[in-house]
Amino acid sequence: MRLKKLLLINFKNLRQSEIALVEGVNCFVGDNGAGKTNILDAIYYLSMSKSAFTMTDGQSIMHGEDFFVAEGSYMTDDGRAELVNCSFSRRGGKILKRNGKEYERIADHVGNFPVVIVSPQDTELITDAAEERRRYLNAFLSQMNRHSMQALMRYNAVLAERNKFLKSSSDEAMLQIYDMQLSEHGNVVYQQRREIVERMQPLVALYYKVLSDDKEQVEITYRSELEQMPLEELLLRSRERDIVNQFTTVGIHRDDVIFRIGGYPLRKYGSQGQQKSFLIALKLAQYRLLAETVGEKPILLLDDLFDKLDMQRVERLLELVSGDDFGQICITDCNKVRLEDILSRASTKYNLYTVEGGDVLL
Ligand SMILES: Nc1ncnc2c1ncn2[C@@H]1O[C@H](COP(=O)(O)OP(=O)(O)OP(=O)(O)O)[C@@H](O)[C@H]1O
Ligand SMILES: [Mg+2]
Repeated sequence: MRLKKLLLINFKNLRQSEIALVEGVNCFVGDNGAGKTNILDAIYYLSMSKSAFTMTDGQSIMHGEDFFVAEGSYMTDDGRAELVNCSFSRRGGKILKRNGKEYERIADHVGNFPVVIVSPQDTELITDAAEERRRYLNAFLSQMNRHSMQALMRYNAVLAERNKFLKSSSDEAMLQIYDMQLSEHGNVVYQQRREIVERMQPLVALYYKVLSDDKEQVEITYRSELEQMPLEELLLRSRERDIVNQFTTVGIHRDDVIFRIGGYPLRKYGSQGQQKSFLIALKLAQYRLLAETVGEKPILLLDDLFDKLDMQRVERLLELVSGDDFGQICITDCNKVRLEDILSRASTKYNLYTVEGGDVLL
């Protein structure tokens, strides 16, 4: 998938921009706060129908305005032209169109225009609670297969009902019905997540090895109480406890993804550069699996290319992503000289755009 043209109106600090992108590497340079990350976020938004950074759609509307519009003209890997138009207004909400036709359900869009973003904010995946890692897997899975979220949504709905029920009752017959439903949907989610993490593991290890020049070994594993016994049994065993606590204390809503470096927890024992390299390896693994499954090379967004990485690792990263396994790339950095220097040494062809106070100049 390749983005040929991006049109933005009132998207964060970008009042009106029209950006023509090239097939290979697109670089956005400019000072802090210029709008570089916002451009990448607009590209992400067109694919995921939500921002990679802000919680609500309203936060992506330029201050003092009522709406934003983002439009992307794409070319698929087999040469078809596609047009995606997304607008959001404070009054009318979100409208998402593909080739002029409005989607009935916005969820049907996710995965059609695959995208992967690497940004300094990714460190939250390491430092934050398990919920953040589950959210990441969910977003990844939703791009892989748009039906993959159904089991999770049903699970969450039953879980909410069960928790509400536990506040006022301990009726065993009713709990048994909830448990059956939770097990059914929970098992599907467990299998999906475990499978995707298993498929990621060798790729994460491989990319980390390349980035670090074979310095350390890394590992990613899915952790769930369901490894010990089926969810139905777990729920039965914890029933007494759940009744006392008045909420559900076991299930896939407590699962986690474990990151390790040299056999130790990455969060405690990884340096900042090692953690960053791990996150890049994770995202590149995601990229490869998406490309394979969706059958379309995702757009790769590298925000703040030099963030925490030494020169060698940046060079290896650029070498990796300019290979045949990767497609169109958008890079941001605040130092033009540094970026041009490393790109010319990697002999990568690229286009350079200067971003200044929300304006994009070629
Ligand atoms: N809804 C909004 N309306 C107007 N401006 C916004 C909005 N949201 C964010 N901004 C502005 O966008 C600017 C940040 O843009 P962005 O994060 O793209 O900068 P950047 O070029 O990536 O900078 P850095 O080099 O520091 O990463 C800030 O000045 C911020 O105030
Ligand atoms: Mg930025």
